[in-house]
Amino acid sequence: MNALTSSFSVQGHIPVMLSEVLDYLKPQANKVYIDGTFGGGGYSKAILSTADCSVWGIDRDPDAIKRGELLSNSFPKLHLVETEFAKMDHALKAYDIHSCDGVVLDLGVSSYQLDQAERGFSFRYDGPLDMRMSQSGPTAADLVNHLPEKEIADILWVYGEERFSRRIAKMIVKQRIEEPFKTTQQLANLIRNVIPADKSGIDPATRSFQALRIKVNDELQQIQQGIQAALQLLKPEGRLVVVSFHSLEDRIVKNIMKQAAGKIAQPSRYDPQALITRKNPVTYRLLTSKPVRPTEEECRINPRSRSARLRAIERLPFSEQKGLSS
Ligand SMILES: C[S@@+](CC[C@H](N)C(=O)[O-])C[C@H]1O[C@@H](n2cnc3c(N)ncnc32)[C@H](O)[C@@H]1O
Repeated sequence: MNALTSSFSVQGHIPVMLSEVLDYLKPQANKVYIDGTFGGGGYSKAILSTADCSVWGIDRDPDAIKRGELLSNSFPKLHLVETEFAKMDHALKAYDIHSCDGVVLDLGVSSYQLDQAERGFSFRYDGPLDMRMSQSGPTAADLVNHLPEKEIADILWVYGEERFSRRIAKMIVKQRIEEPFKTTQQLANLIRNVIPADKSGIDPATRSFQALRIKVNDELQQIQQGIQAALQLLKPEGRLVVVSFHSLEDRIVKNIMKQAAGKIAQPSRYDPQALITRKNPVTYRLLTSKPVRPTEEECRINPRSRSARLRAIERLPFSEQKGLSS
């Protein structure tokens, strides 16, 4: 762990690509930042320690917000809000925050969530088949016990890129008649029994667990809406930094950022079939033409960081914004 990461790592979660996040966000005194995925508070703590600024820490997980209250005792300019980051603009209006100087999103789950068996995110531990970040709404068990076979197969294929999706869905539906799914191990063992072991050594349940987690938490829609909300909140010269962990997430981040920067045309909302496309007014500038990856040293020290990709974008100062081109 490098000196920066170790000083801001809150017990239980090591912040990923922390020095790169700070380099792109460039926290400055008297400015306002949003940490849309507060988690263990590693990024928030680092931002607040770098500059005398304010941070709005958002998380949909009530446990993360409770943990954050300890940190706000030491950092009075840390404000915590329990909500989805897709709703950050509406949620912050209630506190009279209508714009900000930077937003950071560190997608996915924290080590706190993954390593707590009772949250049901991991196939490594036995716990209830839950996977809800917000601790409300339907659980992963509800999905596998009640959805039609085809829908389960589609979820595993679309969100997990699981090529044995149909075989797994068929066996889930057969098994649930005898005994509904309650635990992570019931599901993980079924998957391990019905599909061949992966040559790379990864657990056969990996892709299906990822798919169910994405579905339970509506993660891709959240990313889409969250990035749009963040872009709208940015003041001129404000920056958005996003760290993603798999290709489905990164594709969304990349496309929205490129559209915002006028690098690719965006389908017109009046033309859902996208026969006519238009370029956005150019009000943002990409700071990363390619995703930035963690250093080899970070990957060695924190294997969770291995798949991380960072992208960043800046809202242009008014003087550099270009008008609509069709
Ligand atoms: C990878 S962790 C963030 C870790 C944090 N950067 C740190 O250094 O401690 C992701 C956190 O974001 C939260 N989260 C994920 N999706 C969210 C969403 N759509 N809205 C709000 N919080 C979300 C999760 O509950 C989790 O606590």
